[in-house]
Amino acid sequence: METFGVSGAAGFIGSNFTHFAIGKGHKVIAIDSLSYPGFLFNLEPWILKSRILGLKNGKDFSRVNFSIEKRHDRIYKKVFSNKVLCQIPDNKLKGYNITLFENKEDFTREIESFIESNEKLLFIIASITDEELINIILPHVNCFFNFAAETHVDRSILSQEEFIFTDILGTYNILKVLIKYKNVKKFIQISTDEVYGSSIEGSFNESSILNPSSPYAATKASADLLCLAFYKTFNAPAILIRPSNNYGPRQYPEKLIPLSIIKILKGEKVPIYGSGKQKREWIYVDDCVKGIYQVFLRGTAGEIYNIGSGFEIENLEVVQKIGNILGKNEDIYEFVKDRPSHDTRYFLNSSKIKSLGWEPETDFEEGLKLTVDWYIENKDLYIKIMESADFSSFYKLWYQKR
Ligand SMILES: NC(=O)c1ccc[n+]([C@@H]2O[C@H](COP(=O)([O-])OP(=O)(O)OC[C@H]3O[C@@H](n4cnc5c(N)ncnc54)[C@H](O)[C@@H]3O)[C@@H](O)[C@H]2O)c1
Repeated sequence: METFGVSGAAGFIGSNFTHFAIGKGHKVIAIDSLSYPGFLFNLEPWILKSRILGLKNGKDFSRVNFSIEKRHDRIYKKVFSNKVLCQIPDNKLKGYNITLFENKEDFTREIESFIESNEKLLFIIASITDEELINIILPHVNCFFNFAAETHVDRSILSQEEFIFTDILGTYNILKVLIKYKNVKKFIQISTDEVYGSSIEGSFNESSILNPSSPYAATKASADLLCLAFYKTFNAPAILIRPSNNYGPRQYPEKLIPLSIIKILKGEKVPIYGSGKQKREWIYVDDCVKGIYQVFLRGTAGEIYNIGSGFEIENLEVVQKIGNILGKNEDIYEFVKDRPSHDTRYFLNSSKIKSLGWEPETDFEEGLKLTVDWYIENKDLYIKIMESADFSSFYKLWYQKR
């Protein structure tokens, strides 16, 4: 059975994919920098019996030397004269046993020992921009899935650097290392429908032009072009997947569906951009994950595959449906200033992936009910996230001060 490298494994789709892959019998080397939407608990129960590692010293893009330190329960990544570049808050690490390695040899031995063991998951706290680390990991995997990205359109309007760093340079870093190793048979890059921009009618197929509206979508489109160029120039086994809007368990509550559920559960109003008439094609995350797996099984290098459910609905209607499930119909939303260059509609033609033998299985009503039930069950956790410093400062900056 193949060993998978999965980056962004502590985020929404990456964690759901990791659960699925382990269920299918694969071993997974998970990589995640644990930035604000990434949580180790998304990988429970597996993570509770897994090794969690970090490499203390590495290089981002062969340019920047950095070090990772653990003090108390926090992990700090430092560059240039000890300037703290990122900090993982202690509440993300509490209760987990993390080992940081000083030298590459010991770290590599730990990975080799995982490969020889019966363990299913190895978790590495690291950025995909870390060249040393990607160099150590790639020789041990047969297929690499890159879910790691900065993903929130609204945040990409406030600040772009993180998006350029992770979404473009991070992908480039993996590609650069990938072409050195012949053992990686497929590199599956998770792109997005947003690279096509907006369309009032019709659907986008894989040959539609790239016309991104937001900085987020532009960085994803840039990464797509790099993957295709690396395929053509260096024969990198890159495959692009462009899913439509996903929903389901384990999504960070800044995105429409979990935001609406938690806001309504808290008795607060859901902010709706503009008229709320924007349409999205929603796919239940399990269906998307199965599509990604099907591309691993049957997809061809150099190809692009859209993954959509074929079901589209206006944003306002989504919120009303959530209200209905929760038995609340009055005063559950308020209209707020629209975001700049807000796409009106995305819709995908997904016939290409269907020709590989994949079909969506979950209809929207059923998937939404499963999702609402999951957030009810984990309500306290998500209220805590919403009350965290990261979430509240973003929310204030975006919804109240804009
Ligand atoms: N959620 C959707 O509806 C949707 C739709 C289409 C495409 N996508 C794409 O799917 C992928 C996963 O999206 P998601 O919704 O799960 O995102 P997410 O924001 O929930 O998770 C992203 C994960 O990447 C990690 N990460 C960020 N920067 C990193 C770095 N430099 N190195 C390593 N890890 C890093 C984060 O810590 C987080 O765990 C993304 O590439 C996104 O563009 C998402």
